[in-house]
Amino acid sequence: MPALPADEARLLRLVRAHDRWRGRSVFNLLPSENAVSPRARSFLSSDLAGRYTLPVVTQFHGETIDNSYAGTRYTDEIEALGNAACARLFRAKHATLRPLSGHIAAMSAMVPLLPKGSTILAIAPDQGGYDGYAPGYLPAVFGWDVRPLPADGPGFSVEADTAVAEIRRERPTAVVLGQSFFLFPYPLAAIAEATHAVGALVFYDASHVLGLIAGGEFQDPLREGADVLYGSTHKSFPGPQGGILATDRTDLFEQIDPALVWRVFDNAHWNRIAGVAQTVLELERVGPEYARTVVKNSQALGRALSDRGIPLVAESLGFTRSHQLLLDGEELKRRHGIGPGALGRRWEKQRLVGDLAGRVGTAEVTRLGLVPEDMPRLSDLLVRAGIGKERVAAEVLAWRKQYPALRFA
Ligand SMILES: Cc1ncc(COP(=O)(O)O)c(C=O)c1O
Repeated sequence: MPALPADEARLLRLVRAHDRWRGRSVFNLLPSENAVSPRARSFLSSDLAGRYTLPVVTQFHGETIDNSYAGTRYTDEIEALGNAACARLFRAKHATLRPLSGHIAAMSAMVPLLPKGSTILAIAPDQGGYDGYAPGYLPAVFGWDVRPLPADGPGFSVEADTAVAEIRRERPTAVVLGQSFFLFPYPLAAIAEATHAVGALVFYDASHVLGLIAGGEFQDPLREGADVLYGSTHKSFPGPQGGILATDRTDLFEQIDPALVWRVFDNAHWNRIAGVAQTVLELERVGPEYARTVVKNSQALGRALSDRGIPLVAESLGFTRSHQLLLDGEELKRRHGIGPGALGRRWEKQRLVGDLAGRVGTAEVTRLGLVPEDMPRLSDLLVRAGIGKERVAAEVLAWRKQYPALRFA
């Protein structure tokens, strides 16, 4: 076989090395990531990866055409099957797998429904909110005024009375719920009632907790009053990277759906949609057990880390109700003389890959097969590597190798 050109050989080596390292040799504790099931992964490299379909009725040279592309009979059926399964999973009237990511799902919901000059209430990044809703990002691009919705309870939780008072005072066009540091469900019924009373919409960005919601854990946004639910498909939801949007409101979906094409994006990446559809079907079977185990693992890891002297926020509330824990950075520095970033770098060297901003996630280790009884052992490794500066990489690798396949897939 002729030798590969140098950069192609290097690229191949890098991809293989990445797969070996992140895919098989570490415990991944990043709350923004997950492991994709083998069948969903196989769809990513199917022929769909290079195809288009654009089922939009247009006039072209005096002819009415129902798609700009031919050859789409299977693609269109895959989309219909995936959207119907997604609507079933979230018990929604309408759902679409088209948004290319969580951020694009937010744009997909907000751009058609919020004219320039709208006011939105969203949780600020310094209280765990998503940076995309901060003034310089989506609001700057689309001409919205953004005001902070307070999340000043333990672990950046939202208190009903404070939120409702703020909504009544600001009378926004929309309230955007959802956080990147997302430990506790919202008092959604009270927030939705106050929001609707001022004629505004509730958007629920479930990027972090979508897999939990799919499994019936955390909360049920559409039943509790959210108008539109959307989020990433690759954090607690264990699919390929992408976005999902679901709503019961036909009047809103009729504005959102046609605006996806050409306002937010054009082609929607059908290999990804097949992979996300596969994940949706898997969660219809195993979602409740998966989501329950993720939350139990988080709570057990919280207890075990705290017992070993690692300070976490919201201990009084049981640390978390989600797939995330949050280190108390100030207390960590005071007790151990190290911040979450430096701690994360020490962990990384010992094959424990986590967040550098203090979050610890349990979704991916749950997919591997870890259960609450494993959390004391995992926390021992985290403490020995992070605080004791011990070299535990070989121990981590030997343990990691005991999980060659994914559970819940
Ligand atoms: C709350 C929230 N919304 C949206 C996003 C963006 O998601 P994506 O990276 O899928 O575009 C994130 C990313 O971390 C997030 O935390």
